[in-house]
Amino acid sequence: MAEIDPWGDVELGNYNEKMEKFGIDPVEEVADRLPDHRFVRRGIVFGHRDLDRLLDARDDGKQFAMMTGIMPSGVFHFGHKCVVDQINMYQQMGAEVTIAAADIESFNTRDVSLEEAREMVVEQYLKNYAALGIDLEDIDFYFQSQAGNNHLARSKMFAKHLTQNQVEATYGSAEPGKISSALTQYADILRPQFPENGGPKPTVVPVGLDQDPHIRLTRDIASKYQRQDLVKPSSTYNKFMRGLQGGKMSSSDPKSYIALTDSVEDAKKKIDQAKTGGRDTLEEHREKGAELSEDMVFELLTFHLIKDDSELERIKEEYSSGEMLSGELKQIAKEKLEQFLVEHQEKREELGPKVEQYVDEEFEFEV
Ligand code: TRP
Repeated sequence: MAEIDPWGDVELGNYNEKMEKFGIDPVEEVADRLPDHRFVRRGIVFGHRDLDRLLDARDDGKQFAMMTGIMPSGVFHFGHKCVVDQINMYQQMGAEVTIAAADIESFNTRDVSLEEAREMVVEQYLKNYAALGIDLEDIDFYFQSQAGNNHLARSKMFAKHLTQNQVEATYGSAEPGKISSALTQYADILRPQFPENGGPKPTVVPVGLDQDPHIRLTRDIASKYQRQDLVKPSSTYNKFMRGLQGGKMSSSDPKSYIALTDSVEDAKKKIDQAKTGGRDTLEEHREKGAELSEDMVFELLTFHLIKDDSELERIKEEYSSGEMLSGELKQIAKEKLEQFLVEHQEKREELGPKVEQYVDEEFEFEV
């Protein structure tokens, strides 16, 4: 069995163990060279490979890129927002941004038709991306099924540099649909470095640990591919947000997440039902304080809803000392959430038609 299966259940936690095993370095090493972002300060982005290479390029005024992919698989929730916040950060640093919609992957591995994928990508992903500040005109966005001949040719030619053993050891299986998706993803990750896109350059791929197998093999392929020089891609790793009930956040379980298109009312209900670290009785809570690490509302605040460290710190103090109750914490979350959702959904409505028009004009689905 492979240690990590990108198409299987993601295991939460054990980050340190996995880092050691796969040679991922702690992000603290490079934290002072990164923008002052809450994900870095709060350990949400915890690891990296070769991020120095990208930061050197930035310091030297050279080109560098950020690449990511979207697997269309349901509604867009706060778990997905992690990547978008990172895209914004790298774009502000001056990175060229590339985003792939992984419709070949969802076709092969999730039984999603290209039409369904397109619909999900527009409605769930791109409209929310736009509302979160990503301008599609400023980036290289494409669907895997429309990636162009060179892209698709390269994705096939990368097979030359893989062995069956390597594939089985890395993914735990060699199913054709998975291999095809993986090869496509290697081409995605290396896309910013091909001549059409300005040639070799450091490229960072911000991912969760589940995608690390792809990163490892792409790095290997980058060093073996001979038709042109390729810089081994860099990567960063972010923690997975847990579901509101504890455990996994999963697109198939609406109670586990808050979607960015949820109504304020539904979102508040989900907060009411969320798992907290509050104690069983008031007396015990006042005495021992909340168990922060078991509190999904606090996790949502930490990941997304509170930008200011001192505000978060104050809540942490009061809640973990027992002074603040779970109900009070939930009240704070509901207020922040309402403010965020109302503003976000307004922007989404406003930018939606532009996103639709962009996709209609740029892509013809003839496959
Ligand atoms: N496999 C990724 C997922 O399941 C999607 C993806 C496709 C991707 N191409 C990529 C991610 C390139 C990062 C880089 O979510």
